[in-house]
Amino acid sequence: MAETVPAAAEVPELPMSRSCPFDPPEQLAQLREEQPITPLRYQDGRAGWLVTSYALARTILADPRFSRKNELQHLPKPFKLTALTREPAQPGFFLGMDPPEHTRYRRQLTAHFTVRRMRQLEPRIARITEEHLDAMERHGPPVDLVSEFALPIPSLVICELLGVPYEDRKRFQGYTRRLLSLDSTPDETLAARDALCDYLDELVARKRCEPGDDLVTTLLAGKDLDDAEVAGIGVLLLVAGHETTANMLGLGTFALLRHPDQLAALRADPSLIEHAVEELLRYLTIVHLGPTRAALEDVEIGGRMIHAGDPVTISLSEANRDPERFENGEELDVHHSATGHLAFGHGIHQCLGQQLARIEMRIGYTALLRRFPGLRLAVAPEDVRMRTDMSIYGVHNLPVAW
Ligand code: HEM
Repeated sequence: MAETVPAAAEVPELPMSRSCPFDPPEQLAQLREEQPITPLRYQDGRAGWLVTSYALARTILADPRFSRKNELQHLPKPFKLTALTREPAQPGFFLGMDPPEHTRYRRQLTAHFTVRRMRQLEPRIARITEEHLDAMERHGPPVDLVSEFALPIPSLVICELLGVPYEDRKRFQGYTRRLLSLDSTPDETLAARDALCDYLDELVARKRCEPGDDLVTTLLAGKDLDDAEVAGIGVLLLVAGHETTANMLGLGTFALLRHPDQLAALRADPSLIEHAVEELLRYLTIVHLGPTRAALEDVEIGGRMIHAGDPVTISLSEANRDPERFENGEELDVHHSATGHLAFGHGIHQCLGQQLARIEMRIGYTALLRRFPGLRLAVAPEDVRMRTDMSIYGVHNLPVAW
């Protein structure tokens, strides 16, 4: 007989405390060893499940009986908000939808994010990267790598791709920060979401009058999407497109600087970069508090009975350390082939922007290490502020010298 979820009061919260900035909380590994699907307390007090093994994470993410619909989601305890997730996703915000709505949007976008299409952006991304390195060099050390390199490069790239004026970055970066902060009150989160929506509504209205050579204009020119839907897609791509890669660039550089043998290996053989990018994605797994799903019907899985409506949180961070799938998964090894990792998720919601993110990281790390052979931290490692307070993990700042 499969076990069902116990009463909420007896159920633990999501472990959050890390003893090493690069490793997930130690309790998660213990949980996986004991039982890879365990009861978890959610923000609104109800009980649900936490999944920590690679095999179960992949199975559930690919199973249509588990929904990503916004209105069905509950979030684990470090999140403060419920309101945002208990209403249907706005038009176009397809991450919060199931098929057939999700399929309809995703189909319109796939062609714009293929490997081939993203490769065409390489020269422009390389130019943007070199310009930022030039500026760092002119400024001289120390420099905060997050504000001068890791954040502006993916922001500029997604702005150019969408047709968002980069001059507006203070505005949309501020809203995004509030949206992703675990410290924001529900009101602040909702206000940030609404402000981003208003911003994209204005942009779409402008593009109707003044079309550009960009994705928003292209989507508007098609017959299938109305203005509100294009704006919703814009919000999703803008938020997902800059904070994620930015944190991989910042945290990834910190991890390399703290693993000098790995840094030396990559410097000695720059052709390792493709392996290194996948390994850093796996090892650091910046989407560290989820994703979540909700069971649409009773499902027996991993010796547990998940009832219809039960929330499930998939720990991508811990699944990516599962020794059953990744030998020596606790270690960072840039020679290691980490293919099949879950840092971009899995199943129908697997990251749409993954090829773009890979190119930005390949170009970003390579150019940074080439430009500054003596790159080093300009503060003690314990003074680097980690993003434990954000739903996307990383570093708040990374002072470096060379
Ligand atoms: C290193 C950088 C990135 C990481 C680690 C990352 C991670 C993820 C993950 C884990 C998901 C799945 C969420 C779920 O299953 O609930 C996802 C979805 C998504 N990502 Fe990314 N992402 C990154 C970069 C990007 C970029 C650059 C873009 C846009 C250009 C982007 C756009 C999206 C979109 C639109 C979705 C929703 C896909 C869907 O629902 O079908 N991401 N991402």
